[in-house]
Order: sequence, then structure tokens, then C-alpha cells
Amino acid sequence: MQRRPSLLLGLCLTLASAALSAAPQIDIGKGGQCVEETSWMRKNHMNVLKHQRDEVVYKGVRDAKHSLKTCIECHASVKDDSVSARADSFCVACHAYQAVKIDCFECHANKRKSAWVSGGGQ
Ligand code: HEC
Ligand code: HEC
Ligand code: HEC
Repeated sequence: MQRRPSLLLGLCLTLASAALSAAPQIDIGKGGQCVEETSWMRKNHMNVLKHQRDEVVYKGVRDAKHSLKTCIECHASVKDDSVSARADSFCVACHAYQAVKIDCFECHANKRKSAWVSGGGQ
């Protein structure tokens, strides 16, 4: 009867580590401080971006803080300056995991501006 709790504990630990390793690995990019609180951004970044796009495209109001370019300046990887080049790149890692598909980078540059000089941007 002494063995049962430790067997159960062992099973729980195995399940917990399996769940952790299934979570997406994200390359956050350059670091610093996000434009809004991280946990809020996790849930609301799509609304921030859609709102920002509507402000610019329909009203001509620009707000550099929530510009897509600003996100990319920070979130592009320090390895390849991109937010979408690899499976763990910032803007695609979670989306692949959650089966969300975004087409933003068919039009918008996926690289930080400083990388355009070396020929990577559009
Ligand atoms: C068919 C091309 C196209 C696609 C696809 C596209 N956009 Fe845009 N987007 C534009 C154009 C053109 C503008 C206006 C450019 C400008 O005036 O800066 C714009 C402007 C924006 C802006 C405001 C300007 C800025 O830099 O912040 C945001 C935010 C934005 N788009 C986000 C997105 C997101 C997020 C996606 C993917 C869900 C996306 N766009 C997909 C063409 C596109
Ligand atoms: C000055 C740099 C900087 C800018 C600009 C920035 N971020 Fe962030 N962002 C960060 C950092 C650093 C984190 C991670 C913070 C942490 O792990 O606590 C983060 C976290 C996030 C997260 C949550 C990631 C996770 O692991 O859950 C999302 C989503 C996000 N940012 C989207 C955006 C979007 C969209 C923009 C543009 C509107 C943007 N960020 C602009 C630095 C930035
Ligand atoms: C921490 C994980 C995470 C990161 C990092 C992240 N996203 Fe998302 N994104 C999600 C999730 C989850 C959804 C779907 C939410 C839902 O279904 O309501 C989503 C949805 C979106 C949508 C709406 C898609 C649609 O079909 O309506 C856009 C646009 C978007 N993300 C853009 C971005 C951009 C651009 C970046 C990089 C700057 C980024 N995301 C980084 C998790 C993330």
C-alpha cells in the first residue's frame, strides 16, 4: 500500500512534462518590453492589429506604437531578423500550434527594417 501514491505521482509528472513539451517553442526576438502587458497581448494582439489597420487604411490615423512594423522590430528573431521564416519564428509558432493561418506577410515585410539593407525585405 506504500507504493501506490508514488506510482500516481510518477504518472502525474510524466503527463505534466508531456504537456509542457507539447507547448510551442517561441523565439520572442530582441526582447525589451511589449507595447502592452504580455498576458493581455497573448489574447488580444489580433484585435490590436485589426484596429490599427482600420485606423490607418480607413481613417488615415497612424499610431507608431501599434504599427505592425513596430511589432516586427522587436519580435523578429535575432538569428535571421524574421517573424515568420522558421517553425519557431514569433508570428507563426503559436499559430501553427493553434492551427491559425495568417496571410499578413504576403504583403507586409516579415523582417525588421535594419535587415532590409542586406536585401531580406520586400
Ligand atoms: C493584400 C495585401 C495585404 C495583406 C494580405 C495584409 N495587409 Fe495590412 N495593409 C496593407 C496595405 C496596403 C496597408 C496600408 C499601408 C500603409 O498605409 O501603411 C496595410 C496596413 C496595415 C496596418 C496599418 C499600418 C501599420 O504598419 O501598422 C496594419 C496594422 C496591418 N495592415 C495589419 C495586417 C495584418 C495583421 C494582416 C494579416 C492578418 C495584414 N495586414 C494583411 C496590405 C495588406
Ligand atoms: C519593445 C519591444 C516589443 C514591441 C515593440 C512589441 N513587443 Fe510583443 N513582446 C515583447 C516581449 C519582450 C515579450 C515577451 C514578454 C514576456 O515573455 O514576458 C512580448 C510578448 C508578446 C506576446 C505574447 C507572447 C507569449 O509568449 O505569450 C504577443 C502576442 C506579442 N508580444 C505581440 C506583439 C505585437 C502584435 C506587437 C505590435 C503591436 C508587439 N508585440 C510589440 C516585446 C515587444
Ligand atoms: C502566444 C501565441 C501567439 C503569438 C506569439 C502570436 N499569435 Fe497571433 N494568434 C494566436 C492565437 C491563439 C490566435 C487565435 C485566437 C482566436 O482564435 O481567437 C491568433 C490570431 C491572430 C490573428 C487573427 C487571425 C484570424 O483569422 O482572425 C492575427 C491577425 C494574428 N494572430 C497576428 C499575429 C502576428 C502578426 C503575430 C506576430 C507579431 C502574432 N499573431 C503572434 C496566438 C499568437
